[in-house]
Amino acid sequence: MTPATPQVLATAAGLRALPHTGERAVVMTMGALHEGHAALVRAARERVGPGGQVVVTVFVNPLQFGAGEDLDRYPRTLEADLLVAGKEGADVIFAPSGDEVYPGGEPQVRVAAGPMGTVLEGAVRPGHFDGVLTVVAKMLHLTAPDVAFFGQKDAQQLALVRRMVRDLNFPTEIVAVPTVREDDGLALSSRNRYLSPREREDGLALSRALAAGERAADRGPAATLHAARAVLEEAGGLDVDYAALVDPASFTAIEGETWEGEAVLAVAARAGTTRLIDNVPLRFPATGSPR
Ligand code: PAF
Repeated sequence: MTPATPQVLATAAGLRALPHTGERAVVMTMGALHEGHAALVRAARERVGPGGQVVVTVFVNPLQFGAGEDLDRYPRTLEADLLVAGKEGADVIFAPSGDEVYPGGEPQVRVAAGPMGTVLEGAVRPGHFDGVLTVVAKMLHLTAPDVAFFGQKDAQQLALVRRMVRDLNFPTEIVAVPTVREDDGLALSSRNRYLSPREREDGLALSRALAAGERAADRGPAATLHAARAVLEEAGGLDVDYAALVDPASFTAIEGETWEGEAVLAVAARAGTTRLIDNVPLRFPATGSPR
């Protein structure tokens, strides 16, 4: 079956006028869609079924980029994005301009991410999560979805979105979708296209570190973190920001050997000028077979 081309909307008024009967799902993106985004759209389509509506937002949000980050060179590939989203069953692409999203210019009133927004990614990128949550809140208002899909790849973002939805009473269910990886383990990211072949090779140490941590998980949290850090210490060519084992609900560090329940092993490093992040969800005591 030839996939239908999604309807493209650029205004809040257009979205408001959009009729729908069944459930509405939203997948928020900054464009440059890859197989990881495709998995989100597929999950959204599966969830709402043929009677529901899948809206994909495409907006490179200036508020979440710090000074000296890659806002200007962030890939903008709307034509290709339409094809990817359409193939996976998106009904509508919402691709607004900056003025449409921020009609009053740079917003004075923003969502504050709180303490969880200041650790790990938030420590390296101050203000990043305030920018993310502000635009996510706006997109939730604009698209009014029953359910929203976010990638596990951005685990801290996912945790903060869940927390915002709970703290600010958004009536939207948040669903996490597992990270999609290349065959050699590299987590898909729109920023992977910046990597030279050498940097890409160096970047594989992140998923290797996570796999080593997973393999050590049956020996407890400390052994898990130690195994991941050992891989990163040995790897050349990377400027490591952190390797951390955290509570997935608060992103506070898991300390001691008595932790029971879910955990996230998260790593971040720079390969050349490109920042790479990755993580793996774990459970203690460990069950199941590691990668
Ligand atoms: O994950 C992303 O691509 C962005 O942070 C999001 C959620 C679309 C907000 O701009």
